[in-house]
Amino acid sequence: MTDKALRVQQLRDEINRHNHSYYVLNAPTISDYDFDMLLKELEAIERENPELDDPLSPTHRVGSDINSHFDQAAHIHPMLSLGNTYSIAEVDDFIRRTRESLGEQKFEIVGEMKYDGTSISLIYEHGRLVRAVTRGDGEKGDIVTDNIKTIKSIPLQLSGSGWPDLLEVRGEVLLPWAAFDKLNAERAYNEEPLFANPRNAASGTLKLLNPAEVAHRGLDAYFYYLLGPELPADNHYDNLEYARQWGFKVAPVMKLLHGISEVDEFINYWDTARKELPVATDGLVFKVNSLRQQLNLGFTAKSPRWAIAYKFAAERGLTRLRFVSFEVGRTGVVTPVANLEPVLLSGTIVKRASLHNADIIRSLDIHTDDMVYVEKGGEIIPKITGVDLSGRQPDSHPVEFVTHCPACGSPLERVEGEAAWICPNKYGCPPQIVGRIEHFVGRRMMNIDGVGEETARLLFDSGLVTNVADLYDLTVEKLMTLERFADKSARRVIQGLEDSKRVPFERVVFALSIPYVGETGAKKLARATADIDTLMAMTAEQLTEIEDIGERIANSIVEYFANPLNRAIIQRLRDAGLQMSIERDESETSDRLAGKTIVISGTFTKNSRDRYKELIELNGGKNSGSISKKTDYLLAGDNMGPAKLEKATSLGVPIIDEDTFLSMIGLTD
Ligand code: IVH
Repeated sequence: MTDKALRVQQLRDEINRHNHSYYVLNAPTISDYDFDMLLKELEAIERENPELDDPLSPTHRVGSDINSHFDQAAHIHPMLSLGNTYSIAEVDDFIRRTRESLGEQKFEIVGEMKYDGTSISLIYEHGRLVRAVTRGDGEKGDIVTDNIKTIKSIPLQLSGSGWPDLLEVRGEVLLPWAAFDKLNAERAYNEEPLFANPRNAASGTLKLLNPAEVAHRGLDAYFYYLLGPELPADNHYDNLEYARQWGFKVAPVMKLLHGISEVDEFINYWDTARKELPVATDGLVFKVNSLRQQLNLGFTAKSPRWAIAYKFAAERGLTRLRFVSFEVGRTGVVTPVANLEPVLLSGTIVKRASLHNADIIRSLDIHTDDMVYVEKGGEIIPKITGVDLSGRQPDSHPVEFVTHCPACGSPLERVEGEAAWICPNKYGCPPQIVGRIEHFVGRRMMNIDGVGEETARLLFDSGLVTNVADLYDLTVEKLMTLERFADKSARRVIQGLEDSKRVPFERVVFALSIPYVGETGAKKLARATADIDTLMAMTAEQLTEIEDIGERIANSIVEYFANPLNRAIIQRLRDAGLQMSIERDESETSDRLAGKTIVISGTFTKNSRDRYKELIELNGGKNSGSISKKTDYLLAGDNMGPAKLEKATSLGVPIIDEDTFLSMIGLTD
């Protein structure tokens, strides 16, 4: 094999490995920059040595986000990508080349941010949103109209006037930093895998099957490209200004530039100023403004010749790994953490970085004392993206994942189908017990004032509280034996415990720390069962009938209640006076909808969708997300998706409006 062929082989293997980590494991092992560099090197060799090309090379892989759960639609115009570079000199070359190809000295460039989310195409007919489609494979994508409609900044009906009858608007769906941080904090709390960056979080969210969950996450969208046979202006900039008047959130950063020096100035300015923006950006985009000139320049197979993306390199530091610690959380998941020689990154000192799980440690092939690359790109938690092999000590050895729990010594178990290792000693492993106490008293659970992480540990270490039921045996006197408590603070805790007896049943269910039962799951369980005895008596099969309760959660619930220790704790909590059933307004419950399956679609004026969902369940019916032969009614509001309407009509499902529905359950005004 020639050197070139060998290098091609190496590059393909490496790129394929990183693709797998990114798309399958959802845990990137390389920075975007380094990945692009590998891909560019491979592309260059293949271009210069066509005999080495291979149709299965990763360079020929068209990225696709198609998901089998959604219907697909073909794009009117293919959704292409942009040529990109990390070098200002190459952007300057692009301007020069464009000037030459056009044969015109004068042309304007529009400078924009490159928003780091997931692209979307919206189709408007006569000013009404009819379809939202993801990029997919560029030719066709998933129809995600229902999810898109949850994004409040997207106009469902265009405002103003002058919009063409047929309009396509493209933009980026993104999760602003604040929403991203909140989502990951929630996931960290529930010990669910974190999203690596806002881009992954946005594309993952857009593909959720439950629009209510999508709405909860706080997506937003910026628009940057208009298409259609009758656009209002002959240039990109003015068209976007029109779009702004029609109600779109057009990219807030957009500037007309004339020539190389203005372009360079724009790059230098935004390279740092972008850090102040409320959303993630991964570069800048430069577009020829005139549509006539765009048309003259045309497209290559992959991208327009009238635009280029300049990408920012992520901030990266090189430092030494001191040691890897293994930390046990509330649910027993063991997380490896890299403890580092302090290094300054994006203005903060980084001493710890997540190594996620055993698979990541292996794929990085990280050794003790290695020099490692740390990156803080779009993440809240810095991560290790690679190892500098030249800094490796001769006597170093690979970092091994622990086989036993670092806290209690139990042999670890691998969670089936997941990368996580878990300590099975749920009721004897101190950090798990303390974690559950901490969870129980938390604000969204029993909300017991005056008890935080430290106090929970203190109560456990002192032997006063070894499970959550012991909390209700505490007295002011007992608390005052502990160093941290004085009369006032002790009384505050006792009052907090007293107040917690009025916390509604659904929060009690969440507070119990049943593995895999999060806040939403607890709410669904509480509403579906109404009291703890019903919940405890249910089989896994019955549980899976409840919306959003899958097999894994159902089995976990059954296992939890089968344990005599847990049953004893629940009995003691009940005796202490906690709410073990739902308080219901009896006038709202009936069995008028018993056995009926109802699909809700569109927006309503008298009640929210969630309220209608609740009313269906309170009256004995079942709410379902998609229309099938089993659907009894379609409860339709305004702006209902045309696909749903068509399906309901073709299956002969009766369509009812909100007034009809309310009178069916006896709730007429
Ligand atoms: S223009 C025909 N403008 O970057 C070109 N794209 O690699 C249409 N993106 O798929 C795209 N910000 O998801 C354009 N201001 C911007 C952008 C932008 C982000 C994304 C978009 C596209 C990808 C191209």
